[in-house]
Amino acid sequence: MPGTCVIGLQWGDEAKGKIVDLLTAGRRYVVRYQGGANAGHTVKVGNEVYKLSLLPSGVLTPGVTCLITGGVVLNPAKALEEVDELAGRGIQLDGDSLKISDRVHVILPWHFAEDKVLDSSTGGENIGTTQRGIGPCYRDKVARSHAIRLGDMYRPDFAERIKHITEAKNRVLAAMVTDGDFEPLDADAIYKQYSDYAERLKPYVDDTTEILLSSLEKGEHVIFEGAQGSLLDVDHGTYPYVTSSNSSGVGISNGSGVPGKYLDRVLGVVKAYSTRVGGGPFPTELDNETGQYLRDRGNEYGTVTRRPRRCGWLDAVAIRYTARLGGVDGLCVMLMDVLSGLDEIKICTAYEIDGKRTTVYPSHVDDLRRVTPVYESVPGWKEEIDQVKSYDELPAAAHAYLDRIAELIGCPVDVVSVGPGREQTIVINESLTRC
Ligand code: GDP
Ligand code: IMO
Ligand code: MG
Repeated sequence: MPGTCVIGLQWGDEAKGKIVDLLTAGRRYVVRYQGGANAGHTVKVGNEVYKLSLLPSGVLTPGVTCLITGGVVLNPAKALEEVDELAGRGIQLDGDSLKISDRVHVILPWHFAEDKVLDSSTGGENIGTTQRGIGPCYRDKVARSHAIRLGDMYRPDFAERIKHITEAKNRVLAAMVTDGDFEPLDADAIYKQYSDYAERLKPYVDDTTEILLSSLEKGEHVIFEGAQGSLLDVDHGTYPYVTSSNSSGVGISNGSGVPGKYLDRVLGVVKAYSTRVGGGPFPTELDNETGQYLRDRGNEYGTVTRRPRRCGWLDAVAIRYTARLGGVDGLCVMLMDVLSGLDEIKICTAYEIDGKRTTVYPSHVDDLRRVTPVYESVPGWKEEIDQVKSYDELPAAAHAYLDRIAELIGCPVDVVSVGPGREQTIVINESLTRC
């Protein structure tokens, strides 16, 4: 299994970080290939809790090298802050344990300013971005003229490029910002600040495409760590209420530079229910006591922005779609412990739209807004399960729920998680931890 991929199948925060951490031992590389510091992956190791935004969750396992590849948008200050924070906690990252592609696009001060304005300019509901400059940076990447890649920061014309782009951005921002508080950006100050970042990042900069291809050609084992979730994919998610990268399975090759033939196992991570942060339709949302029950028990507050996450029942129509889109081989069903205490648990098995029943996920957000979920109800279980160590010890109602999920999605359940800790994990498919 040279290439194992871990992707979220909902709207993010499915606990991908925990699964990556669990599978890292014995692998050569762990790769972050898209997104940026909009991600927040929380990993609990013993009594220690780590919150990672840009660095792959593999950093917590000694002996593995972590790679940030070209599909990522890099906030240099945030990357360095995470490196420093880990160093303060005894995890030293040097140029052997962390490598950042010179192809990553760099987030610059104007991207934050643009994010603020654009987020509320849809003409309808706000996207509710994380305000980390993600969308504007990807936009400049695709538009090319005003983009800066990490490798550009070490070239003789870096100061000139910053000056040229800052002048252009100041003109655009002056027109965009209408609430009167626009302060023109200072090219010299930006150049100085980003030159400092470049100097500090220098030991980590490398050609990660070459490193990965050579490694996979030798048959070494690599984990690809997705950020966000498949329903936030810019091409295949609930557009425009999405992020700006390919966060479903289709993004692994373009973000990492690794062809599909090496990606031989895809794990789809799902919560045992649904959550969403930010705007956009959410057919199974529970804006009621049950939703609050899930939020309280699951501590459903964003890692990056601390916003309360919207909570709802599991949507098997959506997950079946994203599992097929990502070529998922097996499911990791996370936060099962949160469901304890409910009398009944509902699963959305189909949608009704215009009087017709369908299991096809709508391609337009307006249609998704109009669907009525068709629910199937299964009995809940009363007992707490956070100390359960094996599949057989789970209550019969939990078995029935998991079986039904596997049946509806069309994939086996490989892992069940009953708490944030490494030890609170039931690995059903033991081949996953062998490499
Ligand atoms: P990611 O972005 O997909 O890595 O997910 P997040 O880290 O943003 O959110 C998942 C949260 O759930 C984190 O706070 C984890 O520590 C926590 N978590 C992971 N697995 C479980 C579980 O099985 N039960 C509970 N109660 N919490 C979990
Ligand atoms: P992880 O990796 C949950 C959401 C934002 C917003 C939309 C666009 O922790 O699962 P952006 O800042 O990317 O332009 O925001 O996407 N979003 C996430 N939601 N988990 C994430 O990452 C997210 N990253 C972005 O809330 O709705
Ligand atoms: Mg998260």
